[in-house]
Amino acid sequence: MNLTEQAAAKACCADLYQSDLARLVFGDTLHPGGLGLTNRLGRLMAIHPGDWVADLASGRGSSALAMSRVFHCNVIGVEFGATAVTQARDSALESNASGACFVRGDAEYIPLRAGRFDAVFSECSISLFSDKPAAVRQIADLLRPGGRFGLSDVALATGSLPSELDGTLGQLLCMTNALDVPGYQELLQDGGLDLVHSEDASGEIIKILDDVENKMGALRAWQSLARPPDGQDEMLDKAPLLVSRLRQMVQDGELGYWLFVGQKPG
Ligand SMILES: C[S@@+](CC[C@H](N)C(=O)[O-])C[C@H]1O[C@@H](n2cnc3c(N)ncnc32)[C@H](O)[C@@H]1O
Repeated sequence: MNLTEQAAAKACCADLYQSDLARLVFGDTLHPGGLGLTNRLGRLMAIHPGDWVADLASGRGSSALAMSRVFHCNVIGVEFGATAVTQARDSALESNASGACFVRGDAEYIPLRAGRFDAVFSECSISLFSDKPAAVRQIADLLRPGGRFGLSDVALATGSLPSELDGTLGQLLCMTNALDVPGYQELLQDGGLDLVHSEDASGEIIKILDDVENKMGALRAWQSLARPPDGQDEMLDKAPLLVSRLRQMVQDGELGYWLFVGQKPG
């Protein structure tokens, strides 16, 4: 893919996550485990009051706002989707949050100053990046010596992406370009970080699947009222079968959600 094609793919991905359907299915936090898992990542990164933290691919800003509120740190969120950035800024204003701000940008070409950050985190997003090794090398550059990178993401056993998920749907679920567990661990280490923690949070995917099943009625009502854009309509028709397929994959250990923490050598 050349740079123009990559930008078009990122814009399409951002549109998907900004859509009403994504909000209906996932709510405001677009990753398994919600803000509970975000706070867990914050504790694992040992964030202190006053620290400078970057949230790469910050979506609607819920995690950045929570981190700043819970750990009393300063968070800069970087997000590709313009609507998501506007929503994040509105949420910051509404909640009177002075510790978080949001910039529109490409987290694969991070528009932030090197060596200035105590922590960087990215939730359910690195799996979407086209050049993951380059992104992690830049993250290592952003961190001060001893600073930590917290990553939570979908882990998929190599070769186990089902054909029905090869496309928009797989992308929405962060599965299309997800790595397996050793793949993420190597990614951090090859990027110059010491791996200090790995944690299996795959149970959080099961909770989302339970939730989606419970919301199926509301999704159907939305489908008949909202005239979903092409593709999203089809997605809803496939949802029940898909939910059981994904549940099976989690049970078989083919699909999971993991937390990893890497530390820049001091
Ligand atoms: C699954 S959502 C996760 C959002 C947020 N981290 C959260 O957990 O709520 C993935 C997000 O990554 C963003 N994204 C994907 N590639 C990006 C890139 N290269 N730069 C900035 N944002 C990107 C998408 O626009 C989308 O908002």
